[in-house]
Amino acid sequence: MRADQVLAYLAEHQQRHLDQLCDWLRIPSISSESEYDEDTKRACAFVADELRELGLAVEVIDRGGHPLVYAETEQRPDRKTLLFYGHYDVQPVDPLELWDSPPFEPVIKDERIYARGSSDDKGQLYCHIKALEAFMKQGIELPVNVKMIIEGEEECGGPSIYDYTEENPEKLACDAVVISDTTLYNAETPAVCYSLKGLCYMEIRLSGPGMDLHSGSFGGTVQNPGNAIAEIIAKLKDADGRCLVPGFYDDVLDLEQDERDAFASLNYTDAVLKQETGAPEAFGEDGYTTLERMWARPTCDVNGIASGYGGDGAKTIVPAKAVAKVSMRLVPNQDPAKIAAAFQEFVQSVCPPGVACEVENLHNAEPVLVSRGSDMMKAGMRALEQGFGAKPVFIREGGSIPIVGTFQSCLKSPVLLLGYGLSTDNIHSPNEKFDIVNFVNGCRTTAVLLEEAADG
Ligand code: BES
Ligand code: MN
Ligand code: MN
Repeated sequence: MRADQVLAYLAEHQQRHLDQLCDWLRIPSISSESEYDEDTKRACAFVADELRELGLAVEVIDRGGHPLVYAETEQRPDRKTLLFYGHYDVQPVDPLELWDSPPFEPVIKDERIYARGSSDDKGQLYCHIKALEAFMKQGIELPVNVKMIIEGEEECGGPSIYDYTEENPEKLACDAVVISDTTLYNAETPAVCYSLKGLCYMEIRLSGPGMDLHSGSFGGTVQNPGNAIAEIIAKLKDADGRCLVPGFYDDVLDLEQDERDAFASLNYTDAVLKQETGAPEAFGEDGYTTLERMWARPTCDVNGIASGYGGDGAKTIVPAKAVAKVSMRLVPNQDPAKIAAAFQEFVQSVCPPGVACEVENLHNAEPVLVSRGSDMMKAGMRALEQGFGAKPVFIREGGSIPIVGTFQSCLKSPVLLLGYGLSTDNIHSPNEKFDIVNFVNGCRTTAVLLEEAADG
């Protein structure tokens, strides 16, 4: 059987594959910081070269931001086509002092690879590439046509891939989009994800006096932007965890009873939440379980607040300015543009007098919901079961992959979210890691998927 030969190759070449992944992880492709632009290009070239060496036709598409890589195997009309997506860019590394080893010097410890990008997303994306290698290097005919689109602006919100997808729907046409940039349910349980949250990320900027003032001389005579921003933030949510922006919940698609039952049967406990987060207790919107809050309820969270003096001791000032960054994670069928407008209007309406208030929409992503019944979904389930040796479950994710909504609307193909990471991989945080067993099983899963998808 083809699959045996492919899986044997993956086992035999595992160490080299890990070494190569580490080479890729050494390249600091932080897309949001311009001093890493050259490195980000090198990380792009690394993956483009590798795909070219495997024998794919590769294009590096430079649209001014960080380049895209498009690659394809020989396309035959009698085969199904899978489009693989992933991103080679990574998040910034700060706070650097909390890393146990340098973020771009991969270290293998306790059967895990520690490095920025190990799980999000280089390590997961590399599973697809190595599965492809196992076919192509052995001259085994691929059961499906493969296309790949890999971007370098996922973490910084760049436009390249949106524009490219909108302009090239025929080129990217496929029977399914396959993405590994999410998580397993837990270390023992693989999962197919059928919903991603969307995002509406806003910044509130208040300016009061023309400079920081002596708080004895002028305190109490002018509005304090620090107090004012606190007033605004306090009005965003009630004590039961509900967002108070008018209309916020209007378009929320409620969970079906079978979804609530399925969530409940996953037996996620608040003890696990406490352990995973280090938080003293669970807290969230009244009337919903933790998994329902995590996967299917929209949220409104302060991501950062800055105003005035934060150093040692007491400095007596009335600050000139205040800023807050607030993200709203959205669920199907909320519309980021509509939520942004409602937020803007609400913040202006509750802003106290005596400060100028600007509200800017920084970043949006559409929420995603895919059918759980498609043939491709079933093929994905079979692949996970064989790759990980355990029955997969359905999950949703609280995170966002912004391009997925555009894939759905432009390509009209089913999207298969096969995550190989763990929610405890510390993505975006210090000490990001990827378990070697998940890398290995991820490669196996993709290899099996290439066969299972052909059977429909
Ligand atoms: N891979 C993540 C998305 C993700 C996060 C999946 C957590 C599963 C669990 C992706 O790279 C990411 O970080 N997305 C951003 C998008 C945002 C900047 C629009 C996110 O969710 O914050
Ligand atoms: Mn990612
Ligand atoms: Mn990310």
